[in-house]
Amino acid sequence: MDSSRKIFAVDSFEGLPAPRQEDSIPRMGGKTHYVEGMFKETSYAQLQYLLEIWGKNQRVRLIKGFFEDVLPPAFPASKQFSMVILDSDQYSGTKFGLEFFYDRIPEGGMIFVDDYNGTYAEGVTVAVNEFLADKPEQMAQGGKTMWYCVKQG
Ligand SMILES: C[S@@+](CC[C@H](N)C(=O)[O-])C[C@H]1O[C@@H](n2cnc3c(N)ncnc32)[C@H](O)[C@@H]1O
Repeated sequence: MDSSRKIFAVDSFEGLPAPRQEDSIPRMGGKTHYVEGMFKETSYAQLQYLLEIWGKNQRVRLIKGFFEDVLPPAFPASKQFSMVILDSDQYSGTKFGLEFFYDRIPEGGMIFVDDYNGTYAEGVTVAVNEFLADKPEQMAQGGKTMWYCVKQG
C-alpha cells in the first residue's frame, strides 16, 4: 500500500455469477460450493468511502462490474500490470482473468490465484490448469490458499 504503483480493484459488487459445469464438485454429487449471488452484500460505496478516509482513493481505483463487461473497455491491449491477484472463486472469472491479463503482464510479473487446488473452488483449479496447459509457467504455493506463477519471457 505504500508503493507508488496504481492499484485497480475489480468486483461485480453483485456477488458471484452463476456457476458453470466446471465448478461442480464430484464428491459433492456434482453440486457447487459457490452459488450465484454469494458475497453480494459487498458495498462499493462503503469501500470507496474507506479508501477516501484512508487517503488511498487516488492510488486505488475501484471498478464495478463483471470482469467480462468492464475489463475490455477499461484497459487497452497496451496496458501492462506488474501483478494480478485473481480471487473470484469460480471457473468463469478465473479463466477470463487469466485470458485477459496474461499478455498484459511482462516477464517477471506475477499472477496470484487464491483457492487454486483448494477444497471447494474446483472451477478455479480447472481454469488455471486449462489455461497453463500450453504455457511455460507453473503454479507454486505462496501461502495457505494462495498460489502464484511468475511470467516467463
Ligand atoms: C471470495 S470474494 C473475494 C473478494 C475480495 N478479493 C476479498 O478478498 O475480499 C470473491 C469475489 O469475486 C467476485 N467475482 C467473482 N466472479 C466475478 C466476475 N466474473 N466479475 C466480477 N467479480 C467477480 C464476487 O463478486 C466476490 O466479491
